[in-house]
Amino acid sequence: MKKQSFWKEITEEASLFPSLTENIETEIAIIGAGITGVTAALELKKAGHRVVVLEAATVAGGTTGYSTGNLYVPVQPYFQSIVNKFDEETAGIVARARRDAIDFIEKTVNDNQIDCQFHRRPFYFYVKEEKNVSKLEKEVAALQKAGIDIDYTYDLPLPEKYIKAAKIDRQARFNPYQYVRALAKKLHTDGCEIYEMTRVTKIEEKDQCIISTTGGQVKADKVIMATHIPKGFNVVQTLVAPYRSYVVAVELEGDYPDGNFWDLDKQPAHAISSHSTHEQLDMLMFAGNHHKTGQSEASHEKNYKEIEAYIRNLYPVKSIAFRWSAQHYAPADGLPYIGPSARTTKKIYMATGYSADGLTYGTVAGMLLASQIEGKENTWNKAFNSTRFTPLKSAEKFIKETVNVASEMVKDYRKSYDEKAFADIRLGEARVMEIDGKKLAVTRDDKSVLHVVSAVCPHLGCIVHYNDAEKTWDCPCHGSRFELDGSFIEGPAYEPLPPIVAHVSMAKDKEDR
Ligand code: FES
Repeated sequence: MKKQSFWKEITEEASLFPSLTENIETEIAIIGAGITGVTAALELKKAGHRVVVLEAATVAGGTTGYSTGNLYVPVQPYFQSIVNKFDEETAGIVARARRDAIDFIEKTVNDNQIDCQFHRRPFYFYVKEEKNVSKLEKEVAALQKAGIDIDYTYDLPLPEKYIKAAKIDRQARFNPYQYVRALAKKLHTDGCEIYEMTRVTKIEEKDQCIISTTGGQVKADKVIMATHIPKGFNVVQTLVAPYRSYVVAVELEGDYPDGNFWDLDKQPAHAISSHSTHEQLDMLMFAGNHHKTGQSEASHEKNYKEIEAYIRNLYPVKSIAFRWSAQHYAPADGLPYIGPSARTTKKIYMATGYSADGLTYGTVAGMLLASQIEGKENTWNKAFNSTRFTPLKSAEKFIKETVNVASEMVKDYRKSYDEKAFADIRLGEARVMEIDGKKLAVTRDDKSVLHVVSAVCPHLGCIVHYNDAEKTWDCPCHGSRFELDGSFIEGPAYEPLPPIVAHVSMAKDKEDR
């Protein structure tokens, strides 16, 4: 079994583009080369703009490469909740935007002859418990009112015993990693500059926007933060909660059901979908066990084990082939925020709050951000207005104070401790320790290398938690994540966790404990 995303395993892994090494200027800078950033870049380039894309790691190597490769109109939370929290008109806009996004991907695949196994196929809801039948019926009614062709079916191609099921045709599956990487190559051929391994460390809005990076400065008239959640400090970070969810992909004895299936008995829904490495279906993916990032009391390993037990109980499993986890941001009112990053800016844009439906919403966001920058009217703005919240009166003060606290704490951590203080940390163990009043994130990795970094998240000062499945430090507040040596993985933080004692190999006797 590989602890890796299926998509990344079956696709070329090498970097496609160089890092930034000089100061440059452009019209539009897009931070983040996942599906949102690359879709926006494609649309803006098509419209004749000069575009530069900056990626902290590799193209599609973040959330896009860890998604489940499903494209569908339904959403979590459900359309019935959009109707309750907003209205039927908003639900209709969301449904049609998601349907148009799938059509956009299909057309883009065909126009550019992208080999990414794009296939139309059905989506199913089902329930196994009587008490949840009305939930399914309400969702079917809400989707029908939103203009989506959904109906009940008595032909659910799963071995599970269900009471009621519904089906939407012409949803889709594809390899998101191949799709986004192919588009990035096309963009580059068409003259768009793309830089990988180029982490943004500051964004300033002046006459132009000035983006500082690990490799040089970028001046741009407009900036899109296609980073899953905006970088730095933004009030929207108080309105979206970071979650991790788990995927287990298995090979089956026998045939694979062709579809994407949501079990509505679970909240959020348990999702099952079949996929292919090439043309024939040869993998079944199970996604679920969502929990708030950095806030699971249980071992993260337990989440994989629960999903594995569920699969083995119902399906003829030949082998557990892959497993991985991914992050998503759930918005308080259920809809993404897509547009200007603040009411006062006309230069910096963001997209966040996709819940676990990010490939379709990421495409919606890329299309919508491009039309906003072009100054076009778009009915989608009503549903995804990025400044629809009422900023907390105290937000500015809160941010200033918290930034101050965080920077003060980080400053205090820039000192070294004697490695003897960590002598009792065992092989594979991770601990948040307090020494001299300072919280330290301490691990001894599988090779017996000791890593000691500050446990204070450099975003807004929360204490990070250890994720034993991914072997990372995860921040429970806004989802910034870090490697054991403190290196930045994802999230709103600009900086890594500062190292305290780095890479100390202990004596052999410690290895053997
Ligand atoms: Fe905001 Fe850590 S991500 S405090």
